[in-house]
Amino acid sequence: MKKFFFSFNLIFAVVLTAVVFTACCNHKKDAQAQTQVQVVVENQVFQMPRIGDAAPEFKAVTTQGDINFPSDYKGKWKILFSHPADFTPVCTSEFMTFATMQKEFEALNCQLVGLSVDGLYSHIAWLRTIKEKIEYKGMKDVEVTFPLIEDITMTVAKRYGMLQPGESATKAVRAVFFIDRKDIIRAIIYYPLSLGRNFDEIKRVLIGLQTADNFAVALPADWRPGDDVIVPTAGSCGVAKSRMDGEEQGVTCHDWFFCTKKISKEEVESKLGK
Ligand code: BEZ
Repeated sequence: MKKFFFSFNLIFAVVLTAVVFTACCNHKKDAQAQTQVQVVVENQVFQMPRIGDAAPEFKAVTTQGDINFPSDYKGKWKILFSHPADFTPVCTSEFMTFATMQKEFEALNCQLVGLSVDGLYSHIAWLRTIKEKIEYKGMKDVEVTFPLIEDITMTVAKRYGMLQPGESATKAVRAVFFIDRKDIIRAIIYYPLSLGRNFDEIKRVLIGLQTADNFAVALPADWRPGDDVIVPTAGSCGVAKSRMDGEEQGVTCHDWFFCTKKISKEEVESKLGK
């Protein structure tokens, strides 16, 4: 009888351990599935690129010839953006705006690269129509000289998570990837099909990323060049105290964890593009 109880207890303990272990593993898997968005391209599963990831590499045919992305743009910032379709009104207004601002992005050492899942000849015909026929908000005779990728196979769009089936199964959403000089994704903005992008914000994000890097600071809500910037939070009680006692030259504290300093617009502008 004693032997029977011993064996029963042993089996019970083993089964209980197995159940607890399996539950823990499944919980861990569920947690991972919730945080990783996966995309499947040609039977390969990729994690959707996120801020801090290396920009996925690809070769593509564009309106400016073939490109290898991002290696063709070594040492430059890149804005890779998608649009839903050629010959559509919102996209036309966006392309005219991007092309009109291209010199401003070049001055920030930034290459623009567009993409839609249309074909090359559609792209060429659309860009010719924009130049020859469309006049909009004072913009006319607008020539798009940055590359526009043809992505009929949707390979790049899927790889970058530009296809979002809840919005459209066949058209890319309006995605904007900000990629730095070391080919790291630094910011991502998504807009739906029905809303054109804010190009002031796109330029502000690029300037903000370059400023944060160049001056090792963070930037508060609605920051623009010339506004106060945020200094790194005090990492010791001593620094917190000296800042709160006003001992750190040029630093103003709202509280020990929230201190700002001035960087003039000219100083910011002298470092942009770097
Ligand atoms: C547009 O660019 O006008 C557009 C494209 C796809 C769906 C809706 C609008």
